[in-house]
Amino acid sequence: MCGIVGYIGDRNVYDVLIKGLHRLEYRGYDSAGVALETPEGNINVYKARGKVANLEAFCKDKNLDASCGIAHTRWATHGEPSDSNAHPHFSEDKKLALVHNGTIENYKVLKDALIKHGCKFHSETDTEVLVQLIEYIRLKNDCDLIDAVREALHQVQGAYAIAVIECGHPEQIVAARKSSPLVIGIGKNEFFLASDATPIVEYTKDVVYVKDEQIAVVRRGEPLKLVTLENEEADIDVTELEFSISQLEKGGYPHFMLKEIFEQPSTLLDCIRGRVVEGGHKIVLNGVRDNKEKFLNAKRIVIVACGTSWHAGLIGKYLLQEMCGLPVVVEYASEFRYNNPVINSDDIVIAISQSGETADTLAAIEIARDKGAFVYGISNVVGSSIPRCTHSGTYIHVGPEIGVASTKAFTGQVMVLTLLALAVGELRGTVSREELEKCGEWIQKIPGLVREVLKLNDKIERLSAIYTYARNFLYLGRGYNYPTALEGALKLKEISYIHAEGYPAAEMKHGPIALIDAEMPSVIIAPDDHLYEKVVSNVQQVKARGGSIIAIVTEGDDIISKIADYVLEVPKVPEFLTPIITSIPLQLLSYYIAINKGKDVDMPRNLAKSVTVE
Ligand code: G6P
Repeated sequence: MCGIVGYIGDRNVYDVLIKGLHRLEYRGYDSAGVALETPEGNINVYKARGKVANLEAFCKDKNLDASCGIAHTRWATHGEPSDSNAHPHFSEDKKLALVHNGTIENYKVLKDALIKHGCKFHSETDTEVLVQLIEYIRLKNDCDLIDAVREALHQVQGAYAIAVIECGHPEQIVAARKSSPLVIGIGKNEFFLASDATPIVEYTKDVVYVKDEQIAVVRRGEPLKLVTLENEEADIDVTELEFSISQLEKGGYPHFMLKEIFEQPSTLLDCIRGRVVEGGHKIVLNGVRDNKEKFLNAKRIVIVACGTSWHAGLIGKYLLQEMCGLPVVVEYASEFRYNNPVINSDDIVIAISQSGETADTLAAIEIARDKGAFVYGISNVVGSSIPRCTHSGTYIHVGPEIGVASTKAFTGQVMVLTLLALAVGELRGTVSREELEKCGEWIQKIPGLVREVLKLNDKIERLSAIYTYARNFLYLGRGYNYPTALEGALKLKEISYIHAEGYPAAEMKHGPIALIDAEMPSVIIAPDDHLYEKVVSNVQQVKARGGSIIAIVTEGDDIISKIADYVLEVPKVPEFLTPIITSIPLQLLSYYIAINKGKDVDMPRNLAKSVTVE
């Protein structure tokens, strides 16, 4: 949700910033801008509505000479996407320029006070309030920029990652964060600032994750300095990045989403590497091994997440209930945080988040911690906020996911939840040695089986042409594949803008069945599991009403295959592993339908990958 970049050093500042914005564009792309400070200390700000490419076109004939600079790609919160609402924002005297990711909750009160002091505003954003406030304090107190930022941030409520430059100081960028991410890359005589490490990794692997309520001061020729809002110097903890630049490129695929779908055999292998060992006969999850007492004494599991991660959480519920015999509830983090959750100290709260930065999930974790629960995180982005504020957890290790619609992260999350259920089940004695070994052997086969499923690609591409102009879709599944149906429908909605609803197949008769006619296709996920016969009846009910059916079935199926209009066969796996296998054709189907409709699958309208606001 909004991406910020900053650079100070000897490279071409504008080039570094633009490249960085492209890497962060998945976070928001309704407008973009740069502020460049010339070696003489003058600040030029250029902004354009739309994607970063528009900004580049706008900057073609501009003065791009710079000693340092900051840049921003926006996902609008306060004020529509427009040139004037785009960042960076100037202070009234144009002495400061600032970029911001987050939301200033008390901006209205601050703005009214500043207006009384004579400030004029040129945008509808909360961000402009912050830069005006900093400049107001700097002039009133006759202090330096760092003190003014500190003082202003004491007055601010909400979330922020900011970077500020000041006229006459081309050798310095001041940045700060609270609840929104900020990473600093340390090169030779140069510094990079960004919302995540993707704009940094091609220049340096040494990064510092700025902590909440810390201010970072980067100055040419000087070491990085971190101070708290109380002006105490903070330790600098340099971390080495684990991913490489090639993981951020499309690698010959037309879109990141397709690349990420096809990466799943290897990402699932990375996800289980070192965790499913001894020929599949042992599951090692350090997060469980190091917290045995917590998992042994747990009375209940509460899963909190948003979006696709919430769907993975629903599958986690089925897994944990089956394998550990524990009651599990799954909540949208955004609801959990406001519904007076009843949490006990013997609850385990599992927070699932690809980005590790989702604001609602972070807030839910805070509440769970305050109420004394043990919080276990499942994230993808190493060093992100969620892994840092949970008691323990597991990374899914699927590599950077750039496409806004989550694919490989979903299967990675489901895989980690599977391992977690097995490890906890073994610990609690609800999964026998023999069962564990059998499951482990199957898990090891999954990457290869996913490779087999991907061979459906061409068939799905052809099939997609038939359904491109459908206006509504119903996705139905039962048991483990009810959440898969929800995820399939979400994928289609997100990137093709076709209305799609996921439903538990048996619930169809309580409402959605009224919608079925020749114009409303149903995608039915019906692998050979203990609910198969029941789903057959649901398929017949759809057919009897003239509905068209695409069915995902197990190889060799001979009942639904005869009823459905189109059939996609997937390899047979045990029931608990079916969602990983059946979700792959659904990802491909939504991808190709969106492509046929000419949509931007990697950057669908109105969405952002990392949702750092409420
Ligand atoms: C956004 C993304 C989704 C994602 C959700 C939760 O809506 O577009 O793909 O599932 O946020 O994100 P998280 O990073 O917490 O998994």
